[in-house]
Amino acid sequence: MKLLVIGSGGREHALAWKLAQSPKCEKLYALPGNPGMESIAECIGGISIEDNAAVVGLAQEKDIDLVVVGPEVPLTNGLADALKKAGIQAFGPSGKAAELEGSKAFSKNLMKKYGIPTAKYEVFTDAEAARDYVKREGAPIVIKADGLAAGKGVIVAMDLDTALRAIGDMMEDGAFGRAGSRVVIEEFMEGEEASLLAFTDGETIVPMISSQDHKRAYDGDKGPNTGGMGTYAPAPVMTPDMVQAAEEKILKPVIAAMREEGRPYQGCLYAGLMITKDGPKVVEFNARFGDPETQVVLPLLESDLVEIMMACAEGTLDKTKIQWGTGAVVCVVMASGGYPGNYAKGVEIKGLADAKSAGSLVFHAGTAWKDGKIVTAGGRVLGVVARADSIREAVTQAYEGVKMIDFQDAFYRRDIAHRALEYGSSRS
Ligand code: AMP
Ligand code: GLY
Repeated sequence: MKLLVIGSGGREHALAWKLAQSPKCEKLYALPGNPGMESIAECIGGISIEDNAAVVGLAQEKDIDLVVVGPEVPLTNGLADALKKAGIQAFGPSGKAAELEGSKAFSKNLMKKYGIPTAKYEVFTDAEAARDYVKREGAPIVIKADGLAAGKGVIVAMDLDTALRAIGDMMEDGAFGRAGSRVVIEEFMEGEEASLLAFTDGETIVPMISSQDHKRAYDGDKGPNTGGMGTYAPAPVMTPDMVQAAEEKILKPVIAAMREEGRPYQGCLYAGLMITKDGPKVVEFNARFGDPETQVVLPLLESDLVEIMMACAEGTLDKTKIQWGTGAVVCVVMASGGYPGNYAKGVEIKGLADAKSAGSLVFHAGTAWKDGKIVTAGGRVLGVVARADSIREAVTQAYEGVKMIDFQDAFYRRDIAHRALEYGSSRS
């Protein structure tokens, strides 16, 4: 089969890496891909992933059997619909189904309607009304821009001033552009977070191994929210009982709800969960694989990813066996100094070959070629990944890989998986 991966980040590198291992994969393309993928995929430039007609044209020209869409923007733009219309299989939800991520108001309203556990909330388009509500409810409280804001449009306000400022920034000063003209204000949920990704064909939904992301920029879960500074899988907080509770109370009901609403959902459903004293509750849904969750989940997948994705696209997931390996995987993200704020680009990255020959798995996230050298090209630059029998060993090995790689002003968290280590548990 000929496959095309859409996107250029660490998630897409991990997807390409796993797809390339399938005996079914004859030829793999990536649009636009990144330098890390070049040994496994032909990277194609010059076409915007947001131009549906151009992507369909490319898939036709290359005779693609399955397109795997990585990021949310092309999904909410209806790329999967455009491909399907042209008779090309796509892994990823339709534009209408991707609203589950694209609009927090839609997703919260859906959860309310179908009784899926999540934080209490109200939606506002008027800043004054939002302020009144926050004053009534008090802090801690959570203010979220409605639209897509690259994982950054959420302010967890521990005091009233921060909450009021966030409302002003989003609704009056356009801090997140149009995404912030409507805000969702939520009850603060106390607990530990975990990510549960799942494969679904719209009828059957199969959870993957759980994982946990570190969203804050600095050690000790301090500093601003980012796209994710590191991950580990499995997440000890997701005991088999907790996974089952999430499956029964969240995953199955939401897939049924989406069908009921005339928006059947096919692809990867990402449930961001808060494990509260009352069980798992939804923090958010994403309409795609997590980044950097994918980088730790896929190394544990033993089954053929091409087969699973085709089964999702064709509606035969109930007949597909999905098997997972034992042990644990850790990913440490190396970021550009300044991220998630401003940062330099074009900085040479050294030590990639050494890390690779020492056995590290390095997924590229924001890299580019410049004058024959690989340089930084984004906030999150690399994900250094290790799989071992226990989380502790995987942490050690991942940081050994990180130490071999160097670029100016590189920064990374030194405490990835600290919570899992406190649990002192592994699946080995
Ligand atoms: P989101 O983009 O909705 O996943 O939110 C980003 C981060 O903000 C989450 O990963 C949580 O750490 C935090 N967060 C979001 N909503 C809540 C909530 N209702 N209660 C507590 N923390 C939250
Ligand atoms: N790691 C968080 C996300 O992919 O949204």
